[in-house]
Amino acid sequence: MATILIIDDEWSILESLEMFLTEKGHRIFKAASGEEGYRIFCTVNPDMVFLDIRLPDLSGLDILDRMKRKKPSARVTMMTAFHDMETTIQAMKTGAYDYIHKPLDANEVERSLNRALHLLEIDRETPQIEAAGKLPKAGVIIGRSKNIREIFKVIGLLCQNRATVLIQGETGTGKELIARVIHRNSLYSDEPLMTIDCGALVETLLESELFGHESGAFTGATHTQKGKIELAGMGTLFLDEIGELPLSLQGKLLGFLQRREYMRVGGQETLKSKCRIIAATNRDLPALIKKRRFREDLYFRLKVVTIHVPPLRERISDIPDLVNHFIQKINLEMGTQVMKLEPGVMERLTVHPWNGNVRELENILVEALVKANGQVLLLEDVLKLLSRDVSEEEPDIACYALSLMEKEHIQSTLEQLRWNRTKAAKILGISSPTLRAKIRKYGIRPPA
Ligand SMILES: Nc1ncnc2c1ncn2[C@@H]1O[C@H](COP(=O)(O)OP(=O)(O)OP(=O)(O)O)[C@@H](O)[C@H]1O
Ligand SMILES: [Mg+2]
Repeated sequence: MATILIIDDEWSILESLEMFLTEKGHRIFKAASGEEGYRIFCTVNPDMVFLDIRLPDLSGLDILDRMKRKKPSARVTMMTAFHDMETTIQAMKTGAYDYIHKPLDANEVERSLNRALHLLEIDRETPQIEAAGKLPKAGVIIGRSKNIREIFKVIGLLCQNRATVLIQGETGTGKELIARVIHRNSLYSDEPLMTIDCGALVETLLESELFGHESGAFTGATHTQKGKIELAGMGTLFLDEIGELPLSLQGKLLGFLQRREYMRVGGQETLKSKCRIIAATNRDLPALIKKRRFREDLYFRLKVVTIHVPPLRERISDIPDLVNHFIQKINLEMGTQVMKLEPGVMERLTVHPWNGNVRELENILVEALVKANGQVLLLEDVLKLLSRDVSEEEPDIACYALSLMEKEHIQSTLEQLRWNRTKAAKILGISSPTLRAKIRKYGIRPPA
């Protein structure tokens, strides 16, 4: 049972709503004017308010504003016969919980009420997200899966030298973030980190962006311009989307990597650079090499140290930490106030395939939080956002997710037992042939 206050100057609305809601077992208070309504609001502290926008004395929006000031968590559903944009926007801005139209539709009233009550219940029962109000850590790689911990180790080693690094991984897995973390933790973190997107520019511009140019080198080159290699100094040059680098420039880049010398476009002078090179790509470089779109010799020059960033679906144990991190970050940056997740939300986020990886997770959370309208992120709202993204090729998402979890579980068990299959099968509670079948099915391989 909930306590509900109805404020409307139309007698028929008050009566019919009261009847409808009393029948559902709720306790009803009524008011026919704004002042009276606000007075009752202050004394009975209702769980929910239905509030008319047009009242004889005050505007419903003013009362809404007063109520929200008095009690920010108040749930107020506005009712109006007018469908204009201005008032709807104004009402939502002032903190209306919902908005329904007259003539009232019993279903709509009930839906709005149920949502409000559901929210109230979750709000009472759910603990706050750990550290929801605290400052998010900036520029930190979040995660504690085995895969990510391996990457931390490699980064730790890389910070002490200037070895060339190739970072490979699907889109949105965090390649650029990793490059920044390597630079920031290196001995030359005070030096610049220069980024060049090898897919963004036409060939000639890319060349001058990379190596710089002398004045008069080409039409429009009115003065000497330093390239990113030069600007990086003793720091880092991050070659993003290296798979997109045109073939002719691949040759020039290779020449630079071999000799550590280069010339500006149109220049005579040989320049030297010791900058650290980090390249990243979401392309399958060996496949590009086969198609003769990427030079094999350049590939070997770049992959002195390789970091494979696994897709998020192969390290789902990172998801809860990422979700908590992004909620903190979004609350701070967007002014949202989500502090709680309805039970089930985290589980649902964990089983999503996340083809766009961490970036997709962050984007979905931004949208979910902005639309959350309060402190609690509801499962229903998350489901709506996620189902929009599920393609028809994934008819049974729960099944898919389960097998992902199974794969990760089997893999880590095997690794912990140094690939002793008999012991692993025993611990996993399956027969050895079944384990062998699953290893084959999931393509699990011992670490190289
Ligand atoms: N482990 C992580 N912890 C925190 N934030 C992350 C993590 N991984 C990725 N992100 C964030 O996700 C977003 C995408 O990451 P990033 O741009 O580094 O991906 P990318 O691999 O370079 O993608 P693309 O191939 O599309 O360029 C960024 O906002 C980044 O900060
Ligand atoms: Mg990137």
